[in-house]
Parts: sequence; C-alpha cells; structure tokens
Amino acid sequence: MTPRHFLRDDDLNPDEQLAVLDLADAYKADQFSAKPLAGPKSVAVIFEKNSTRTRLSFEVGIAQLGGNPVIIDGRSMQLGREETIEDTSRILSGYVDAVVWRTFAQKRMEAMASVSRVPVVNALTDEFHPCQVLADLQTIRSRHGKLAGLTATYLGDGANNMSHSMLLGGATAGMNIRIAAPPSFVPLPWILEDAKKRAAETGGSVELVTDPREAVDGADVLVTDTWTSMGQENDGLDRVSPFRPYQVNAALVAATGVTTTVLHCLPAHRGWEITDEVLDGPDSAVWDEAENRLHAQKALLVWLLENSGS
Ligand code: CP
Ligand code: NVA
Repeated sequence: MTPRHFLRDDDLNPDEQLAVLDLADAYKADQFSAKPLAGPKSVAVIFEKNSTRTRLSFEVGIAQLGGNPVIIDGRSMQLGREETIEDTSRILSGYVDAVVWRTFAQKRMEAMASVSRVPVVNALTDEFHPCQVLADLQTIRSRHGKLAGLTATYLGDGANNMSHSMLLGGATAGMNIRIAAPPSFVPLPWILEDAKKRAAETGGSVELVTDPREAVDGADVLVTDTWTSMGQENDGLDRVSPFRPYQVNAALVAATGVTTTVLHCLPAHRGWEITDEVLDGPDSAVWDEAENRLHAQKALLVWLLENSGS
C-alpha cells in the first residue's frame, strides 16, 4: 500500500480538503448508515498526551463506521521505553489499517509515517493540530455558507499548534488568516512561509498583526486557544502577561464590527484566553465545533483509506 498520511493541514490540497469537508457534512447528516470500515478494519489511536475530545471522537467515530478502534496510552507501550518509533510503526502496519497518534515533536510523527505501510494521522503534535482545524472549517462553513474569502483571526499564542494549523488549513481553504500575537510568540517562520505559498495558490492571505483590535476588525471568525499548551507547563516563560491584551472578551468581539463566530478547540481556561460571557454567548460555536471532530475525522479516515494506493 502507498499510504496517504495527514501529518499537517497542507497534506490535503484545496480540492481534497473540500472533498473531506463535504464527506464530513454527509456523515453529520446521516451518522449511522455508512459502514466503510466493516470487516472490521482496525485503527490504532495512540496518546502520549492527555485527551478528551480526540480520544472519544475517534473511538466513537471508528465504531460508527463499522471499524475496530484500538485505543492505547502510548506511555504504556514499549515506545515509552527503548523501542524506536520506526520499529513501532513497522509493527503497527502488520496489525492495523491506520494509525492515529498524539505526540510531542512533529519529527516523531514524521518518523512514524516514514516507514508506515498504512495511513498515519496527526492527532496533535507540538507544531500542528490538523484534525481540529478540519472540524473548525466544517463549523465555519456551516455558519457562513462558505470558506474562501472569509477572514479568521487567531488570537493568543501564535507559536502553538493551533496557530500553525489555522495558518495552513485556513490558507488551503482560501481564507484570510490573521495571527494576533505578542512579538515573542509568533508562528515559526517556515510554517508562515508555507502558509503564504498555499494562500497564493488559493487566493487567500496570511498576516501577522500585533495590535489585537486592528487584527479583529471585520473578522468573520475569532479563534483562540490556551496560552499554555501541553508540555509547556514548566518552560520558564511568562505565559500570562504578554497574552492579556489578546483575551477574547465581549469588547474584542464587538470590535470586529461584524457578526462573528467564536471558536476554541477546548479545553478552555475560562477567564484567561476567553471569558465565560463569550464562550457561553450567542457568537460561540464551540460545542458544535467539538461535535464536528467526530464527523470530520470519520470523513478524513475514510478518505485517506480510499485514496491510499494498493
Ligand atoms: N481539542 C482537543 O483536541 O481536545 P482534547 O485535548 O480533549 O482531545
Ligand atoms: N494548544 C493546545 C491544544 C489542546 C487541544 C495544546 O497543545 O495543549
């Protein structure tokens, strides 16, 4: 098999991303009929970091498709001792039809995919969270009827996985992505460059803005995330004061000047990156966004398996 992997958002080209989003909408409309993983096909879903949404949505989604989800705490595997990622990957390819993995550095994800004979899906790394952004795009499209031409502003830690995935996934969808972040927490330059290249192909755009009010002006979508991602708890950086001006609160939502949709991948740190008033208010789409993880990931898995050469 020549597997198709989904390690970062731009592993799908614009047409492919649309196909996955269309399939995600179809699965949302009819959650139980399609059983393309019947047999069953098995999918390993491995976690080296905590998870609520990703774990539940993959396990339930794979079962709904007629497949067999094999959920593993990566910290209990031999991977957590001395077995290499590549040897682990070779073993997994002999047992399962796809591998979904949440880990630390993106390089680890690339090592897993490098020798895998089955599709590998990134369920979050330090650098990217592409499954989340697929669900975010599905949510935005359902609210606004389109993606291309919309402006989405991501506020907060511009150097984290959600910021990077919004850049690449949003640019692939032809959106205008603004990153509003303090100067010491801006995206990795090579990811910004890749997003700019993708935006040039799709008619989208990518912009870094320091002033949060300027960044949200006219924004159709506001996105935020925790200021301290998993693994950063003891990195010695001040992860509060630089971010305070970027809190998504009622004043910032009003500063958009338009009807906006507020997204947060969750878990939320209420009162820090987002206020209760906004998270629980009429502009928030976070519960729908979380549910869409289920539909988007089902679509992604089926699409990857169907498009992997034999
Ligand atoms: N948004 C998200 O990935 O949530 P979990 O960490 O709970 O999986
Ligand atoms: N940026 C966050 C996302 C959690 C889903 C983290 O990596 O912890």
